[in-house]
Amino acid sequence: MTDTLTTPLYYVNDKPHIGSVYTTLAVDTLARFERLQGDDVMFITGCDEHGQKIQRTAAAAGVEPQQHCDQISAQFKANWKDWGISNDRFIRTTDPRHRSIVEQFFQRVEANGDIVEGRQQGWYCVACEEYKDDAADATDPICPIHQRSLEWRDESNLFFRLSRYQQDIESLIAQEGFIRPLSRRREVERFVEGGLRDFSISRLDLPWGLPVPGHDGHTFYVWFDALLGYITALLEPDEEPDLEKALARGWPADLHVIGKDILRFHAVYWPAMCLSAGIEPPRAVFGHGFLTREGQKMGKSLGNTIDPARLLERCGADAVRWYLLRDIQFGEDGDIQQQRLLDLVNNDLANTIGNLVNRTVAMARKWFDGVPAPEALPDTQHPLASAAALALDQAPAHYRALAFHLAAQDALQLAIDANGYLSEKAPWSAIKDPANRDAVAMDLYAVLETARLVGVLLAPLLPDLSSRLLMQLDQPAIDWQRDAIWGRLSAGVPLPEPIPLLQRLELEEAI
Ligand code: MSP
Repeated sequence: MTDTLTTPLYYVNDKPHIGSVYTTLAVDTLARFERLQGDDVMFITGCDEHGQKIQRTAAAAGVEPQQHCDQISAQFKANWKDWGISNDRFIRTTDPRHRSIVEQFFQRVEANGDIVEGRQQGWYCVACEEYKDDAADATDPICPIHQRSLEWRDESNLFFRLSRYQQDIESLIAQEGFIRPLSRRREVERFVEGGLRDFSISRLDLPWGLPVPGHDGHTFYVWFDALLGYITALLEPDEEPDLEKALARGWPADLHVIGKDILRFHAVYWPAMCLSAGIEPPRAVFGHGFLTREGQKMGKSLGNTIDPARLLERCGADAVRWYLLRDIQFGEDGDIQQQRLLDLVNNDLANTIGNLVNRTVAMARKWFDGVPAPEALPDTQHPLASAAALALDQAPAHYRALAFHLAAQDALQLAIDANGYLSEKAPWSAIKDPANRDAVAMDLYAVLETARLVGVLLAPLLPDLSSRLLMQLDQPAIDWQRDAIWGRLSAGVPLPEPIPLLQRLELEEAI
């Protein structure tokens, strides 16, 4: 069984922003966790390249839309590589095969009687590519997300009969776990209770979109096209675009991870479209919160956006992953604060975890030439073994629930326990008396073994740091079933000279 996990397909109006990095890091962590557990994962990300917003951005830059999309999507791809993202697919909605998948899907929906002609009037946000129903009565309404004036639209085009799916959607969203976290489910419930209205799925006079087969002059509304990218992405590279074949490769998606602003599209419109086409809806949707910066909304007009490439260059992926996923409860809104980033990275990673490994490896090398081999190895009754058992027991459930802050806490607490144990046993004093040599060997073994398990627990969250940590203990590749067990560290093996796991972060200027 393949677990299909997705990030949103990002608009190519601009290079990646911190919001897209945030979602992608989270999905990467989950994908890594599942792979470590031995699951087969299909991790999909990519770019959403059609629609008015992209057409206008390209026009403003004086380039052809395709050329613009090629440039920006290449930046996304390179960017995910720099961050070490482990995606299996990178789908672009301008992939020629995507057009065919959209057509096949549309034909099924149309054959099912769910496409009708209609007229829509209302206020539209081009940045969201969405009608804003709440703005109906205002005179100069502003998009609450983009703080920009909405545009009045009055269009005749093709509609999808969403209203026919009222009951199906009600029962779907009532399913335990379909919309996570629970607070987000309430938002969607309220929207659905208001009564689902048909929505337009085509545009007239918008050349930068996929043509609707059988309806001259119409192109698909960008969201209709984009959501289907999740299915096109399932095709093997260079595989024929056959809808059934794509579905067989990993549909339904097990989890769409998205920001809360695009929840309706994923939890209401998209499942209804799938049902209409005779396709299983996605299994779950997780809507995470929004990031602010030092208490303020981020935006170009405010001039306070964070450039992810610069952030990565200055802090490194481990530090950013740790800060964003440990400090902000995934699902809730969060505020990025530079001082807090420095404090957490330096305290948790450089001091608590880094020093633990560094000083223990140094002592073990100095007195025992490597991992000590005491007469009896510390067994599962050892206090650190119990602490490790607790962390190993809790962390998988935390990862699975996307409660990354708790999984981080599990690993961190274990490192804190190990440091506490070292202070209590003070091997640097005990070793002075030769009679204590075996007791010190046993203590150091226990602490090294605990450090190893901290490395295992951190592998999904901080892949680089975790692998550096495990290399210091001479433990390369890991496998959860085999390695997430007390007592796996081989006694008596030499250890390489320790190098600091992470340089302390010093940032003089703003990130
Ligand atoms: N193209 C659509 C998605 C189509 S999926 C078939 C889209 N793209 S986007 O690039 O605008 O948004 C990408 C993601 O970034 C969304 O999940 C959005 O919630 C997220 N974020 C945008 N700003 C954000 C913050 N300030 N904080 C956290 N996430 C934010 O929507």
